Amino acid sequence: MKRTGRTANLPAASAAADGVTEKMKNMNELPFNLFLIGFMGTGKSALASCLHRQYHMELVEMDEKIAEQEGMSIPEIFEQKGEPYFRDAETALLRALGTKKGAVVSCGGGVPLRECNVEAMRQSGKIVLLTASPETVKKRVSGNRNRPLLRNRESVESIRELMEERRPRYEQAADLVIATDGKTVEEICGELIRRLQDEK
Ligand code: S3P
Repeated sequence: MKRTGRTANLPAASAAADGVTEKMKNMNELPFNLFLIGFMGTGKSALASCLHRQYHMELVEMDEKIAEQEGMSIPEIFEQKGEPYFRDAETALLRALGTKKGAVVSCGGGVPLRECNVEAMRQSGKIVLLTASPETVKKRVSGNRNRPLLRNRESVESIRELMEERRPRYEQAADLVIATDGKTVEEICGELIRRLQDEK
């Protein structure tokens, strides 16, 4: 899978996710999809890659798919076609994903802002919200030019402001919330699997 350099810079760890039973190793057999939502830099792409690598879940990286479909990068889509065009592409893609099962979908940070997107996700899966402090987000996204909404608003205060504005939408959409500050991607992955097991 082609990487676009958008993955949040989470600390890496080599240990496999611990405490995970054999049964849960076949995550690709889940009868529903997992939609990862959250602010930019909360680690959705990193967690989705981990679930793909370690649990063989089909991986759908929404931004990557849309960029591929359009033949241009996300910043180029925003510049040349405008944000509403990009948001419509997100909605169309989410609806198309409704036919899948057992996939992990790394959603763009703006996906839960449209109620119809939240409905589409609920119809085929569980919605997992990843959170991080504005300070952590700043560290993870700094220097990355692929996020048009963070251009000229990379300060902790600007990040906090946009995050607070979006927080109610994220929280209303979520079936499960995982805080990611100070955790490795493997720890987050293990925590998610255990939370899913506990729900059973
Ligand atoms: C956006 C988040 C980005 C990307 C686009 C808009 C947002 O994805 O979809 O730049 O509105 O929060 P990531 O959350 O994966 O960075």
